[in-house]
Amino acid sequence: MSDPQIVASVLGADYSRLGGEVLDLTAAGVDRIQWDIMDGHFVPALTFGSDVVGACRPYVTVPFEAHLMVADPDPVLADFAAAGCETIIVHVEACPHLHRTLSRIRDLGARAGVAVNPSTSLDFVPYVLDQLDHVLVMTVNPGFGGQDYIEAMEKKVSEAREIVRASGRLIQIEVDGGISADTAAGARRSGAELLVAGSALLTHPAGKRAAVEDLHRVLADAPAAP
Ligand code: DX5
Repeated sequence: MSDPQIVASVLGADYSRLGGEVLDLTAAGVDRIQWDIMDGHFVPALTFGSDVVGACRPYVTVPFEAHLMVADPDPVLADFAAAGCETIIVHVEACPHLHRTLSRIRDLGARAGVAVNPSTSLDFVPYVLDQLDHVLVMTVNPGFGGQDYIEAMEKKVSEAREIVRASGRLIQIEVDGGISADTAAGARRSGAELLVAGSALLTHPAGKRAAVEDLHRVLADAPAAP
């Protein structure tokens, strides 16, 4: 399993200076930026579209990932690929034709990711292994930042790790929601390689760099899943 990476969610960023926030997060040492794309249907909130993502793309070099919390992701896949998202993550709950949707993401030149809500099982994963680069295990119910980490999801992270290990494929496992210095070690021990943090980075009293350093310190002491 690769070294843990910190992925910054911009959901809770200051939207009046979003480009500056992305620059600050990158300067603070995050490994990736996650764009929480919400349509007001799949989840109650409405956030930003691909134009906003594309506007920020030229200013930083870290990979962008689009987390599509939208009821119908197929029509917008190309927009987020064109905006410069290296990874596009769809929710299995919104994809009746997931196998085809993941294939289309790859055809667009992006890494194909699937996200699963807390109540959703991983029983579909073995049937899309050949189309998959990334599994996102939600550790909160999607739609809002600042929620409590659902520790029970660590079992699902471990299940995902075992499926990926048995497949022999290079599929990355990510967690998202309630990740902080208090919860990151448990997620890592369960098998997460990518940890999405929003509030923990954006509201840290000592600033974004200190927040990243705190997470790396905790993760350095957390043994990776066997
Ligand atoms: C939920 C969102 C959040 C966000 C990070 O739909 O996906 O998980 O990225 O939120 P916190 O503030 O919990 O790190």
